Amino acid sequence: MEHHHRHHDQHQPAAETDEAAMAELLDLDAEVLQSYLSEVTAWIHELAADPAPRRILDLGSGTGTGTFALLRRFEGADAIALDVSAQLQRHLRDRARVLGVADRVRTVQADLDAAWPAIGPVDLVWASSSLHHMADPDRVLTEVFAALRPGGLLAVIEMDSFPRFLPDDLGLGRPGLEARCHAALAEERATELPHLGSDWGSRLSQAGFTIEAERPFAIDLTPPLPASTGRYAQASLRRIRSHLDGRVSADDLATLDTLIDSDGPHSVLRRDDLSVRTARTAWLTRRP
Ligand SMILES: C[S@@+](CC[C@H](N)C(=O)[O-])C[C@H]1O[C@@H](n2cnc3c(N)ncnc32)[C@H](O)[C@@H]1O
Repeated sequence: MEHHHRHHDQHQPAAETDEAAMAELLDLDAEVLQSYLSEVTAWIHELAADPAPRRILDLGSGTGTGTFALLRRFEGADAIALDVSAQLQRHLRDRARVLGVADRVRTVQADLDAAWPAIGPVDLVWASSSLHHMADPDRVLTEVFAALRPGGLLAVIEMDSFPRFLPDDLGLGRPGLEARCHAALAEERATELPHLGSDWGSRLSQAGFTIEAERPFAIDLTPPLPASTGRYAQASLRRIRSHLDGRVSADDLATLDTLIDSDGPHSVLRRDDLSVRTARTAWLTRRP
């Protein structure tokens, strides 16, 4: 048995574990930020109500946060959930069954850096925190434009700042830990994700879209917060931690490890002083 277990672990590819952690993070993001999500879809509904969209495309759908929020909002619609990750798509299909909407969702696995798959025409496209991952977002926007019916809508959402959870003084380690971690990460992101934080409004106009509205969403959840907040903070800090070796001091890494650890009195799972601070911007655009 023991040998069998070891054998199994050895063959669990790192990427798979990584994607499982990503799936957990995305699901917790949806759970903790559900009121923001509902505000965004209500806002889209105002502009997209007539005629109501019937075919929705979720670009870089992850675990289906946008897909399911939009299917709830537009009851007569079906959705195509497009993503490069087969594992995230399996997760999405499982959730669709649990939510009772499996017959309204089709997953399409495609790497948008390679080629645009044969889909379309669609009435509404949603791209949340996905465009900045593309090697050539401008080309992808041109493909989206072609896949939309004239008059159809594209909603783009991008993060202005990654979620923060911790008070400045943790009563542990040197104050300002989270700010130092985010500053260290910003350097890496500038090279790894060069499109993050770019001027999406002008890129959307360049691709031919008319900008109907642009709206900032500032999220600031303060205690008391539900237990899922601790798990969201843990998943989020764990992801950050995996990029920080050699980028912040050994003391800061040790403090971070103490916070991420599920056990122990300082675990984020046990803190009652967590908040959730993040900012996103949404652009609602139309193919004329
Ligand atoms: C940060 S996640 C956002 C997921 C989801 N939209 C949400 O808001 O929760 C980015 C997603 O884009 C997908 N993605 C990244 N590059 C891609 C590509 N070249 N083609 C298709 N999907 C891609 C990833 O697999 C991941 O699911």
